[in-house]
Amino acid sequence: MLPTSVAFLLLPPLLVSAAQYCSLKPPGDVSSSSSGIQQTTNATDPSDVIASAWYPGWLATDFPPSSIPWNKYNAMTFAFATTTSNVSTIALDSVSAQALPEFVSAAQSSGVTALLSIGGWSGSMYYSTAVATADNRTAFVAAVLSLVSAYNLDGIDFDWEYPGKIGLPCNVVNPDDSANFLLFLQELRGTPAGKNLILTAAVGLTPFVGSDGQPMDDVSSFADVLDRIALMVYDVWGSWSPTVGPNAPLNDSCALVQDGSAVSAVNAWTAANFPADQITLGLAAYGHSFRVTPSAALNSTGGLVLYPDFNASEQPLGSADTPGDTSLDPCGDPNGVSGVFTFAGLISDGFLNSNGTAAPGIDYVYDSCSQTPYVYNETSQVMVSYDDATSFAAKGKFINAQGLIGFAVWDVTGDQNDILLDSLHQAMGIEPVCD
Ligand SMILES: *[C@@H]1O[C@H](CO)[C@@H](O)[C@H](O)[C@H]1NC(C)=O
Ligand SMILES: *[C@@H]1O[C@H](CO)[C@@H](O)[C@H](O)[C@H]1NC(C)=O
Ligand SMILES: *[C@@H]1O[C@H](CO)[C@@H](O)[C@H](O)[C@H]1NC(C)=O
Ligand SMILES: *[C@@H]1O[C@H](CO)[C@@H](O)[C@H](O)[C@H]1NC(C)=O
Ligand SMILES: *[C@@H]1O[C@H](CO)[C@@H](O)[C@H](O)[C@H]1NC(C)=O
Ligand SMILES: *[C@@H]1O[C@H](CO)[C@@H](O)[C@H](O)[C@H]1NC(C)=O
Ligand SMILES: *[C@@H]1O[C@H](CO)[C@@H](O)[C@H](O)[C@H]1NC(C)=O
Ligand SMILES: *[C@@H]1O[C@H](CO)[C@@H](O)[C@H](O)[C@H]1NC(C)=O
Repeated sequence: MLPTSVAFLLLPPLLVSAAQYCSLKPPGDVSSSSSGIQQTTNATDPSDVIASAWYPGWLATDFPPSSIPWNKYNAMTFAFATTTSNVSTIALDSVSAQALPEFVSAAQSSGVTALLSIGGWSGSMYYSTAVATADNRTAFVAAVLSLVSAYNLDGIDFDWEYPGKIGLPCNVVNPDDSANFLLFLQELRGTPAGKNLILTAAVGLTPFVGSDGQPMDDVSSFADVLDRIALMVYDVWGSWSPTVGPNAPLNDSCALVQDGSAVSAVNAWTAANFPADQITLGLAAYGHSFRVTPSAALNSTGGLVLYPDFNASEQPLGSADTPGDTSLDPCGDPNGVSGVFTFAGLISDGFLNSNGTAAPGIDYVYDSCSQTPYVYNETSQVMVSYDDATSFAAKGKFINAQGLIGFAVWDVTGDQNDILLDSLHQAMGIEPVCD
């Protein structure tokens, strides 16, 4: 029997250019001349780019895994398995449990690595207890590895929202969460099965917090055990904010209020010693809606105002909201109206043309600081800050300029005919290479 360390060395690298597959190749010199796009990273090896997205497993009935454009990705993360009060049980709802095997086989037969994300906004309640003690960490490692083996996964994404910080109000939170999370990841990475896994984490705008509740100065130990992190640079402004603002700002150092952006998040994580080439930028294929009166929305020349007041007691229904929804979140509170519009939903609800540009009769502005668009319907008084092909291209150029490893889109079902994805690929200069 081979020692595991040797077995690991014999395994293929992260991305295999097996003959029957397409890989995603940043063309470097070759297509920077043909497309005119400057490739600032030195990415000539396909494994230098990560083109990934999350797949919302609970939507599998409407969006089966076969609907994913697999040849335009090389990693896909199934969301979500959830933490439970029993450290040895990681839960999957019934729709997800049924779709996951099909997802994994569809991914792997396309040369795409298949990951499962644990947690999410409503599934992180018991992360803290799962990693709180040595015994629990060992049990949680065993539970993770048993999922990996049951579903033949290539990796696990840890979407703990958030270690040491409250997310959903009833989450368990402990000042030692980040330290315990690191110990857990080290233990998982130290197992024979864990050595070979792709381990990723979805993270907030600032580094994991230490026991004092402040972002840590040095998170390099996390980079030693994780393959990469995805910066969730979205939901920066929404119904909870004091005014309308950009959902997924690329920049905020030029804005009136600094509330976080891709620029600030990359700066914060790299300043805390997380290497840029282990960071993917999270991208939003959706926007947040607000009820805004025309007098607040429009300036004296009829242009859209960027940070207008909105009426929080009249949250518009988003494209995924059901009128009269009485469902409860895991804390027992009403889910309420999300107001979220997917990019595809903005098209089907008439804000955008089928090619993703603003429809006739809809006001549009592209904020040059956040580098994201807003649309507004004066009759319904609904304003939406979202992402379009232009903002995805701006983020793609930023990913290259910063030497980030790639992108992670929330979520793969929000796009329409790959309008956003194709724009991103073009801006980054990556293209499928099929043998
Ligand atoms: C790309 O690689 C070449 C050769 O290794 C090196 O000289 C050059 O500085 C690199 N460029 C960038 C942008 O990293
Ligand atoms: C915890 O979960 C494990 C694995 O599903 C199960 O075997 C065990 O009985 C559960 N423990 C309790 C107390 O429910
Ligand atoms: C360890 O996990 C169990 C659940 O399996 C939980 O009841 C217990 O509180 C955890 N320990 C700590 C210190 O959180
Ligand atoms: C962000 O804004 C600052 C201040 O205007 C500017 O100097 C910087 O170039 C911008 N960065 C990007 C990536 O847009
Ligand atoms: C009104 O807003 C538009 C952008 O939507 C801007 O270009 C224009 O300068 C603004 N006009 C005034 C008077 O502020
Ligand atoms: C906001 O909406 C509520 C509920 O429809 C309404 O009663 C209230 O007058 C609105 N507030 C403003 C400032 O328009
Ligand atoms: C704007 O909203 C009104 C009222 O809901 C609706 O009738 C109209 O179709 C919308 N306009 C566009 C261009 O979608
Ligand atoms: C998008 O579609 C609209 C409506 O059909 C059309 O007027 C516009 O020229 C198109 N824009 C692009 C960039 O294709």
